Amino acid sequence: MDPWQAIPRFRAELRDKKCDHLILLANAEPAETKELAARYPEFDWVMTAKGAEEPPKDVGTIPNTKTHLIEVGQKAEYLVVVGLYKNGNPPFRYQRVPLDHRFADAPEIQQMQVAYQKELEQMRLEGLGLKPAPHSSGRKFAGSKTCASCHTQAAAVFDKTPHAHATDTLVHLTPPRHFDPECLSCHVTGWEPQKYFPYESGYLDLTQTPDLVGNGCENCHGPGGSHAAAENGQINVTDAQREELRAALAVEGRSQRGQQIGSGI
Ligand code: HEC
Ligand code: HEC
Ligand code: HEC
Repeated sequence: MDPWQAIPRFRAELRDKKCDHLILLANAEPAETKELAARYPEFDWVMTAKGAEEPPKDVGTIPNTKTHLIEVGQKAEYLVVVGLYKNGNPPFRYQRVPLDHRFADAPEIQQMQVAYQKELEQMRLEGLGLKPAPHSSGRKFAGSKTCASCHTQAAAVFDKTPHAHATDTLVHLTPPRHFDPECLSCHVTGWEPQKYFPYESGYLDLTQTPDLVGNGCENCHGPGGSHAAAENGQINVTDAQREELRAALAVEGRSQRGQQIGSGI
């Protein structure tokens, strides 16, 4: 029900009960929550949805009110705990608690996760409306195994990093997450990592594209299909074209992770 209609209906009743604290849980945008707090100043605490990504370090205030504002964050990464102390000084303590491994998973949520992953598996990428898009370079992916056949030193370094097993990591989770585009995007080869969709010739699934597992060489170097084919003599190229295809795979700048991988090659 619309809070602007609902709150006036029980306002008098709340006041009569003479509670120590009145708390409003608003499943609303922060702007509307603040308007509600300003219009109904009897609430000491208001909690809003859709606020900051993480709960702020300190409790929020709302101009011209004595109301405390709580933002719970997104993705349920934190719990916000407020302790209220009668005659205490200060009268309350505010703390955000990360929901980390100190807390066991709730079986109900685990069940929901299992059902959600099953649904993703059944829908497949097509069902989710995820069509492979052309890579901006116009080139195609070959997979790390192909690269490794020539770049044995680079591959030896790569194999010792977690990147090499990034897809396996998802397969071995409980429940497995290797049908979940929000995980695949960084844990396979040939996806747009931020936007959760595959490029043409990128990873589709374990059976169709077994060689595109892992956060592979080409996620850093770019698609190397033509380079590999040119070096293997599978396509005819001039010397200049061969050089061009090599140069296209050079990584611009040195990221910290890249440097670790690239050193000694
Ligand atoms: C058939 C052998 C072969 C295959 C397969 C191959 N390369 Fe190469 N690659 C070469 C040769 C030869 C060079 C040029 C000499 C060098 O730099 O080692 C080269 C050069 C490179 C360079 C250096 C570019 C530069 O100029 O800085 C990178 C990066 C590279 N390859 C990445 C890859 C990736 C990624 C793959 C897999 C998609 C791959 N290569 C597949 C043979 C191969
Ligand atoms: C934006 C990129 C990105 C996305 C999206 C992503 N991950 Fe990761 N993940 C990483 C990186 C980077 C690592 C560190 C390991 C590495 O260097 O490959 C990692 C590591 C992990 C690890 C630890 C692996 C280990 O053995 O140490 C797990 C588990 C994991 N991710 C699960 C997930 C799940 C589940 C999802 C989806 C909800 C997900 N990831 C989405 C980038 C990402
Ligand atoms: C996490 C990103 C990353 C991954 C994964 C990665 N590389 Fe690299 N690689 C780099 C960076 C960064 C450099 C250094 C580039 C430079 O010197 O400017 C590099 C250097 C290289 C070079 C030498 C290029 C040169 O400038 O001489 C080759 C060849 C190469 N990588 C091949 C591979 C192969 C093959 C794989 C997979 C088995 C791989 N790389 C995986 C980031 C990566």
